[in-house]
Amino acid sequence: MEGLKFLVVSVVLALASSFASASDPSPLQDFCVAMNETMVDPQQVTEKDFFFSGLNVPRDTSSPVGSNVTAVNVAQIPGLNTLGISLARIDFAPYGGLNPPHTHPRATEILVVVEVGLIHFQLNVGKTNAVALASLSSQNPGVITIANAVFGADPPINPNVLTKAFQVDKKVVDYLQKQFWTDNNN
Ligand SMILES: *[C@@H]1O[C@H](CO)[C@@H](O)[C@H](O)[C@H]1NC(C)=O
Ligand SMILES: *[C@@H]1O[C@H](CO)[C@@H](O)[C@H](O)[C@H]1NC(C)=O
Repeated sequence: MEGLKFLVVSVVLALASSFASASDPSPLQDFCVAMNETMVDPQQVTEKDFFFSGLNVPRDTSSPVGSNVTAVNVAQIPGLNTLGISLARIDFAPYGGLNPPHTHPRATEILVVVEVGLIHFQLNVGKTNAVALASLSSQNPGVITIANAVFGADPPINPNVLTKAFQVDKKVVDYLQKQFWTDNNN
């Protein structure tokens, strides 16, 4: 009986785990430009709806985390609507510029370092600015920066919960919840 229970539990756990992979549903048409108005004549669509300029321009990386994310998603290019893709430029300051640990709830991401830099896990340990380009499998990937979401939540998460979850002294949690949690996403 114990053996059977163990088997059932193992099978349930095995079925419950899977590799995470997120993306938009497959598009059903060639394009469908996002508009605020509900009734839009497709004839009004222009090349501007598919255009964004300035990705070549270096961004200011003086924020406390030393990075600056320029998102190019459906909010910047309305023509990306239903195309299931977007991108971002990430500028890293030298000597420790960091794109803090985060997740994209609606997308999987590929990151390419395009300008000299020594980036380990989104941390630039090189002595020059570094730039990476991210390709994301969603028109609106979303971003959850872990530290901000946990310690900078508004309203705050109950400190007793965080104290127990992180197994630290309550003072540590109080300290972290008092910090200003920078957002490096524009
Ligand atoms: C659509 O509306 C939102 C919110 O009112 C606004 O921020 C945005 O700029 C508008 N977009 C366009 C393309 O007009
Ligand atoms: C990113 O860079 C732009 C332009 O250099 C600047 O206006 C913006 O404030 C910067 N954002 C952050 C979060 O540092």
